[in-house]
Amino acid sequence: MANLNGAFGIVLNIIIICYISTHVNSDFEFTNIECKVSDEFCKIETCFLKSINRTYKYASVKIQLLKPINKFWAHVTFMKRLNGYKPFLYNYSVDLCKLIRNPKSANKVALFFFSLFSSYSNLNHSCPYSGFLIVEKLPISHLNYKLSKVLPIPGGDYKIVSHWIMDNFRAMDLNVYFRI
Ligand SMILES: *[C@@H]1O[C@H](CO)[C@@H](O)[C@H](O)[C@H]1NC(C)=O
Ligand SMILES: *[C@@H]1O[C@H](CO)[C@@H](O)[C@H](O)[C@H]1NC(C)=O
Ligand SMILES: *[C@@H]1O[C@H](CO)[C@@H](O)[C@H](O)[C@H]1NC(C)=O
Repeated sequence: MANLNGAFGIVLNIIIICYISTHVNSDFEFTNIECKVSDEFCKIETCFLKSINRTYKYASVKIQLLKPINKFWAHVTFMKRLNGYKPFLYNYSVDLCKLIRNPKSANKVALFFFSLFSSYSNLNHSCPYSGFLIVEKLPISHLNYKLSKVLPIPGGDYKIVSHWIMDNFRAMDLNVYFRI
């Protein structure tokens, strides 16, 4: 599977979302998250956004892997809503096993993305993966803080579409919607 857009990349959309969306004073809001899996590979335990109060909101995702994964890629496309969702800014693929195995040689942007959620996940170890893929209570405030230096993008409704390729099989789709 080729790295389509010049080896850029990162994993969790949740993070990515914020990369393009957030600057210091923006009103960043997750609006929805959707997980879809192939029954043969995965089972969804958790996939939701939660608002505890005005300042504490988080995303949690927990996916059970029904078999160990040796190859793990993510295809990620950013979309902006105009008349329907249209591709916007990024459309790329990343080899997650390689990124984690050799962070020093990985794309800096990809690593930055990874650092945004890695402390809330169990993904920071080398392949193979088995058991559960977990992102636990990733707070919006954490993302806002980390991303405060990143260039803003125009206000609007956005969607991140990601396909998770496990051992060459499209095993999971994760869509994240947000508004700025
Ligand atoms: C929001 O909820 C968190 C976690 O329960 C709590 O620590 C925080 O003080 C709350 N903030 C407000 C403004 O109520
Ligand atoms: C993203 O890029 C791939 C490969 O170039 C292409 O097949 C796919 O249609 C693109 N997706 C969008 C939404 O443009
Ligand atoms: C994974 O975590 C270790 C220890 O916290 C850190 O040194 C390493 O850079 C992390 N790897 C990635 C890809 O973020």
